[in-house]
Amino acid sequence: MRTEFKNEAFTNFKAEPANLAYDAALRQVEAELGRSYPLVIGGARIDTERRATSVNPAKRARIVGIVAQADRASAERALAAAAAAFETWKRVDPQERARYLYRAAAMLRRRKHEFSAWMTLEAGKTRAEADADTAEAIDFMEFYAREMQRLALPQPLTPSAEEENQLYYAPLGVGVVIPPWNFPLAIVAGMTCAAIVSGNTVVLKPASPTPVIAAKFVELLEQAGLPPGVVNFLPGPGGEVGDALVDHPLTRFVSFTGSRDVGLRINERAAKTQPGQRWIKRVVLEMGGKDAIVVDADADADLAADAIVAAAFGFSGQKCSACSRAIVHQDIYEAVLNKVAERTRKLVVGDPADRATDVGPVIDDKAYRKILDYIAIGKQEGRLVLGGGTGDPGGWFVEPAIFADVDPKARISQEEIFGPVLAFTSADSFEDAIRIANDTDYGLTGAVISNDRAHLELARREFFAGNLYLNRKCTGALVGTHPFGGFNMSGTDSKAGGRDYLLLFTQAKVVSERF
Ligand code: NAD
Ligand code: ALA
Repeated sequence: MRTEFKNEAFTNFKAEPANLAYDAALRQVEAELGRSYPLVIGGARIDTERRATSVNPAKRARIVGIVAQADRASAERALAAAAAAFETWKRVDPQERARYLYRAAAMLRRRKHEFSAWMTLEAGKTRAEADADTAEAIDFMEFYAREMQRLALPQPLTPSAEEENQLYYAPLGVGVVIPPWNFPLAIVAGMTCAAIVSGNTVVLKPASPTPVIAAKFVELLEQAGLPPGVVNFLPGPGGEVGDALVDHPLTRFVSFTGSRDVGLRINERAAKTQPGQRWIKRVVLEMGGKDAIVVDADADADLAADAIVAAAFGFSGQKCSACSRAIVHQDIYEAVLNKVAERTRKLVVGDPADRATDVGPVIDDKAYRKILDYIAIGKQEGRLVLGGGTGDPGGWFVEPAIFADVDPKARISQEEIFGPVLAFTSADSFEDAIRIANDTDYGLTGAVISNDRAHLELARREFFAGNLYLNRKCTGALVGTHPFGGFNMSGTDSKAGGRDYLLLFTQAKVVSERF
């Protein structure tokens, strides 16, 4: 076994050398923009007639990469390649499988700023947000490698005098990995590596706005020596390629992170048994959130404002964990609202490649229009305190928007916007605040800022969220420290980065022998 798992440290961008190193990485990556990225099936690079262009959301005329687009036929080929590779990969010793991840993690650590720079340029992440994403990717590989080694040890069973009993965790088969664009390295790495270190082979269909970062990650795995066919890279239109992969009888499991609508569609389609299918497909679905920070009457208003601003507007609110609702006790409502507005006013919106930028662009035109539509709805449903405008038309910039006095049943209180839009609601009491927080279809993250022990205990019991934080922000879960996943329409609560996660990609086999 390796040393105990430790989270990767974040880079301190207050230090000049770190910024200079990041500037150099940005220049290096900029010199690589505009290249072409093929499909990778069974280790072979395959170009396609149909291609998509990935662009920088801060400078949308700037092409990041040109990416091959799979169709149903290539989906079929990729699944066949994964099925062929499974026959050997499933027999590879778990210790050896873990070592591929250790090697890839070490290589990524050495090229940290380079990968982060790709995220600044393709996903619009500020340097701190991109650095945290890369750190999380390293963490996932280090953590799941250790987890596989732990699962490969003899598992505790009740001893029997008459026979020897052993339990093994065997892989499932061919998996389809469908990640979102908002953690384009960490979630791609986490979902892919959990599946393969458990002995499965996969077809990875990256999210359409961020295929280049995913291609770079697949390249890293190849450079780490991963055998061909274990990970097959299949960028393509989500609906067409996604449906083909999910429906296919060779698919044994689907590991999805993304929106509620797509997650529910996958759940339905995967449940239908196809001709020739020999198993019940397993689905792991991590979906959206409508996360709230509750502020108690006696809370430290500065702590509350810091937590709300960081969680609402970090990465332009494009996190499933983002705070989109501030539910504040009436006694402290105006004070917290003013402090949040004061802090938000100081946020610099701009190109994430610039050191001074706090809030970058939103991911694409579809997101931009959707967020602006919700801002228009918000103006009918609440009082616009701040923001909501747009920025440099060369990119998809939306100024952080704060709406006050929003009804808990309003659309901007109920629907996931996935942008920098925050709704403030006043609560009559702490119990009322928890009731409002729970009044949503989702149940991903939540936070409570309070100095009242009884109220904190009440929140522990009654706040319905997979990840509840007390006296801190509701974003920034760390691998191993905060296993992550949500309730109800937020998904199947898979707890990524936790000790139960790999079990989702295995089946336990018990062997009993009498001598
Ligand atoms: P999305 O649902 O639009 O897309 C997610 C993935 O599904 C993409 O790769 C997309 O191409 C693919 N897809 C689209 N149609 C498909 C189909 N018919 N079949 C199979 N795959 C299909 O989500 P997004 O915009 O990429 O990501 C944002 C969403 O992800 C938000 O709702 C956010 O809350 C959620 N998210 C959740 C978590 C979590 O851990 N719970 C983490 C990050 C993001
Ligand atoms: N895991 C990410 C967070 O906690 C989404 O913010």
